[in-house]
Amino acid sequence: MEHPILIINGSPRGEGSNTLLAARALAEGLGGAAPASAIRELSLRDLTIEPCRGCFGCWRATPGHCVIRDDMRTVMDALAEANTVIVSFPVYFFGFPGPLKTALDRMIPVMHAYDGGETLHRVRESFGEKRFLFISTCGFRVTEGIYDALRAQLRAIFGDPAPLLTAIPQAELMQVEQMRPIVAHRLDLVRRLGEQLAASPAPDASLLREIESPLILPKAYHRLVSMMHGTEGA
Ligand SMILES: Cc1cc2nc3c(=O)[nH]c(=O)nc-3n(C[C@H](O)[C@H](O)[C@H](O)COP(=O)(O)O)c2cc1C
Repeated sequence: MEHPILIINGSPRGEGSNTLLAARALAEGLGGAAPASAIRELSLRDLTIEPCRGCFGCWRATPGHCVIRDDMRTVMDALAEANTVIVSFPVYFFGFPGPLKTALDRMIPVMHAYDGGETLHRVRESFGEKRFLFISTCGFRVTEGIYDALRAQLRAIFGDPAPLLTAIPQAELMQVEQMRPIVAHRLDLVRRLGEQLAASPAPDASLLREIESPLILPKAYHRLVSMMHGTEGA
């Protein structure tokens, strides 16, 4: 397998993405001694992906293949090559950013047609076994409550247990020069998470708690973010 680890970056910020920093750390940890070339990145903002037309052509006319000819083919080819897929995204209104939701909708060809039975669709055998991991960052000062809807959505899509979804809060700090040591330490924790996931399916709950804890005291964050957004005293 040429690129066993695939990062799908759903942030519109490209190289300026907070989440991409975390996704890369996770991939490095997972990859261990594997060469950097084992990790492939796709940034959705660089791809042209139409919304799903809801035509069910991928179930009827061309089973397993979407009828739309656009860059989703690149994503599907990369998915086919990977055994671990890291979905990297900023939380937008407690959900996935639009372009990522669009790409996820366009993955419906990997499912067998709905047969009137169970709610969970069976995945086509040709898609193979893949491990999905979701990593995110958010602007709020804590992660509690922010990811409830997304976690429920992943459970509904993938079944129980759902794929791991972890996140770093207060992420506006990740690009702030003075925060570098704190951010570097947090990214080390994410790298360690990747190492753990390479060895076992379930990571340490305490490590996840550390990753999801605030980077700085909430009061200080409030102050800083107010200054950054020019809302101080407003
Ligand atoms: C349209 C929009 C909606 C957002 N919604 C939320 C939200 O619901 N909760 C939250 O904590 N942060 C929210 N944020 C903040 C982003 O999740 C945060 O800035 C994130 O770190 C950006 O990651 P990125 O640099 O990888 O794009 C929102 C940002 C935008 C632009």
